[in-house]
Amino acid sequence: MAEEMALPETLLSREKLHGNYDNIVGESTVHLEVLKSIDTFAKSSKVVLISGETGTGKELVARALHAENPHARHAMVTVNCAEIAGNLIENELFGHEKGAFTGAERQHIGLFETASGGTLFLDEIGVLPMPLQPKLLRVLQENEIRRVGGTAKIPVTARVLTATNINLIEAVAAGKFRRDLYERLKSLHIQLPALRERREDIPALAKYFLTKENNCSNQKVTDINPEVLSLFDAYSWPGNIRELEGVIGRAVLLAGGVDILPHHLPPDLQVPQTHPLSLADATVSTNPNIPDYFMLPFPMGTTLKEIEKSAILTTLARENGNRSKTAAVLGISQPTLRAKLHAYEQEE
Ligand SMILES: Nc1ncnc2c1ncn2[C@@H]1O[C@H](COP(=O)(O)OP(=O)(O)OP(=O)(O)O)[C@@H](O)[C@H]1O
Ligand SMILES: [Mg+2]
Repeated sequence: MAEEMALPETLLSREKLHGNYDNIVGESTVHLEVLKSIDTFAKSSKVVLISGETGTGKELVARALHAENPHARHAMVTVNCAEIAGNLIENELFGHEKGAFTGAERQHIGLFETASGGTLFLDEIGVLPMPLQPKLLRVLQENEIRRVGGTAKIPVTARVLTATNINLIEAVAAGKFRRDLYERLKSLHIQLPALRERREDIPALAKYFLTKENNCSNQKVTDINPEVLSLFDAYSWPGNIRELEGVIGRAVLLAGGVDILPHHLPPDLQVPQTHPLSLADATVSTNPNIPDYFMLPFPMGTTLKEIEKSAILTTLARENGNRSKTAAVLGISQPTLRAKLHAYEQEE
């Protein structure tokens, strides 16, 4: 009995997971939490939302959810909502019947049907045009689609996964994403941490990419100089894991010998950075000629109003949309917060 009361962290370990996640590197607690969620959600057939900054591994996580889904008999079909013109998305997703519109000379099978028995991965869901959002919500609720111009209801047998690198709570506050769809998507939510929030994983990730790069390019670079690792530790990684992968790939090419040394890194990484403030991480100047005390955590020219908006929306996101907690953290009243959020909606 006493053993079952162990600290939650100690329960988090790869051995306890059912799936194989060897290609998803990291042992930090936040990362193990992510693996645990993948392991749990993979069994379900419900829609999952994967969110995180660019390069944090959203697609990798989607692939793992698909691979570990015991019901997936077919492939994962990926559709990037940002890459298809807004007026074509409906047609691409749901297909159309012959004669549905001028030029529809034959029937077209949409991606929901193509992905039957497998997974449909809707990437960059945050930019899905507003008129399509209620249609997607209905499909998720009823588990059936209708082709454009068709009447027959076709059951959906694809598992739907979604990803976003824009903050959906901010998008809801800005009137660009429907709250009801957001509520539906977030019931199974995997929030991927930024790399700067899991710095302890950087050495293992760097080593993993080093081995991968050596194998691909037939090189024998085996070591990463400790000074390089401390520059990595001081850097803000706005491009997250993809950026680290790119940095290692470049360094392996440049390193003639066995070691990756500081001069094999891109110039902005060769100078130790101060950790940026959390409010606007990526905007601290990296110019080594500007002393620390002249740096702002925002680009020069940002107005106080913009800083306030950023503080409010970031806090709201961190508090999962809970307005009373957000108001408490910011030290303002709930009516004030409500009025400010209302004003942001009107600005759009
Ligand atoms: N934990 C990890 N272990 C190993 N490789 C990883 C990990 N996370 C991400 N990667 C690698 O980093 C790169 C970026 O990952 P991915 O494409 O999944 O990011 P993303 O969040 O979808 O990015 P974007 O928002 O730009 O689409 C890929 O090459 C992926 O394999
Ligand atoms: Mg992606």
